[in-house]
Amino acid sequence: MDSARSPIRTICCIGAGYVGGPTMAVIADRCPHIQVTVVDLNVERIDAWNDPDLARLPVYEPGLDAVVGRARGRNLHFTTEVDGAIAAADMVFLSVNTPTKTRGVGAGQASDLRWIEASARQVAAVARGHTIVVEKSTLPVRTAEAVKAILGAAQQNGSGPANGETKTFSVLSNPEFLAEGTAIGDLESPDRVLIGGEDASAIECLAGIYATWVPDERILRTNLWSSELSKLTANAYLAQRISSINSIAALCEATGADVREVGRAIGTDSRIGSRFLQAGPGFGGSCFQKDILNLVYLCRHYGLEEVAAYWEQVVTLNTWQQDRIARMVVQRLFGTITGKRLAVLGFAFKADTNDTREAPAIRICRELIEEGARLVIVDPKVSSAQIAADLGQPPSAAEGGWQVAASPLEAATGADAVLILTEWREYARLDWDAIGAVMRRPAWLFDARAIADADAARAAGLNVWRVGEG
Ligand code: UDX
Ligand code: ADP
Repeated sequence: MDSARSPIRTICCIGAGYVGGPTMAVIADRCPHIQVTVVDLNVERIDAWNDPDLARLPVYEPGLDAVVGRARGRNLHFTTEVDGAIAAADMVFLSVNTPTKTRGVGAGQASDLRWIEASARQVAAVARGHTIVVEKSTLPVRTAEAVKAILGAAQQNGSGPANGETKTFSVLSNPEFLAEGTAIGDLESPDRVLIGGEDASAIECLAGIYATWVPDERILRTNLWSSELSKLTANAYLAQRISSINSIAALCEATGADVREVGRAIGTDSRIGSRFLQAGPGFGGSCFQKDILNLVYLCRHYGLEEVAAYWEQVVTLNTWQQDRIARMVVQRLFGTITGKRLAVLGFAFKADTNDTREAPAIRICRELIEEGARLVIVDPKVSSAQIAADLGQPPSAAEGGWQVAASPLEAATGADAVLILTEWREYARLDWDAIGAVMRRPAWLFDARAIADADAARAAGLNVWRVGEG
């Protein structure tokens, strides 16, 4: 079925975040005949999505401004009028946040499903006629069951609109595989689209929308649970590769090998593949850690202790990598950084995003602050307010404080060390002669992404540590 044959004409997406916003923008762009309304309770966020200045969208994602610019006001709308948009929709996407629980049963591992439940209840209350409900948030396996139960109760109640019309629902799982920073390319040309469900006609309605621009052989249909579990598994596999290469990076540093050479050597094996072999300060982002912890929780729930322990180690290694980098910085700076100025380049969890969720920079900076350093942080897209929220303290020039600077050069002025924590392209082209000239000696470059021109930094008189280089 192509989209012209899909009966879906109105979509509502609950949640205007990093997933909902870009995904709906691309659907609206590719399917001009479908009205797409993205709703959120967060007024500020919706206002930012409606900002006439496309440079001020709440999500920074290369290419997103152009897509939103084409579709917004035509068939892409952002609003806080949640009920109206749900009532009008043939299809509702649930794209709300599902962070790891901070308290109660499963704290630290299970996902907090309160926003999913709240939005499912809202759909149950105000939807009209037949509505296809699509899980888009990353969810633990069997969440669709809860969503179905809530919607099923509304169905049985017959708590339909006043005219006596009955409401019915189909629930689908359609996990998102986009990576931040490349979201638009990932959405426009996905490796695959995964649709899980039991209602074949609902599956084809959603498949028909994607078929507008995605070849049919890339649209995979599975049962609900396989679809949910595939998302967790994909993220666990990807994260596992990063922990694996970071573990080898530590061994390279101890033995004199170079992790980039090892990565290149193993990556040419087509069974291994060359991607996701970059050693660094550990993975961040809203998905990897959360999804692995979900998997661990699920395995424990089913009594699979060895399986749980196996995946848990991926997260343990990731945290260790961050701790080890912070400790190494202290140790190389003569065992103390109290009062020392350290320039931190990059705070986002990866390049080309303004997202800092689970960013390795947060943990590393907190540890350096704990040691009494004076941090001067630069990031091209992360605001000072976001850094304050992540570090849990306002900016200050005091010992154990942090401030922002406008440029790497300004941050490095008077600093004992420069730390690169995010692989922003501009950090590959830094002018080390200029930076070296304004630093206090002996000066250090700690390059946790191995992106800087290490030879130029050495030539400028800096001592250099690069992740994975022995
Ligand atoms: C990830 C998945 O890639 C995506 O499919 C899923 O939908 C959401 O989670 P994302 O977290 O946005 O996407 O970015 P990704 O590119 O996967 O990077 C995750 C983290 O791993 C980043 O901190 C990145 O710096 C790190 N990373 C990635 C490495 O350290 N080395 C690598 O080789 C690749
Ligand atoms: P993701 O990365 O999964 O997109 P975000 O946290 O960026 O996660 O976005 C999720 C959005 O969902 C937030 O903007 C939040 O305000 C919104 N949200 C959560 N619950 C509801 C709800 N019941 N109704 C509308 N929006 C909601």
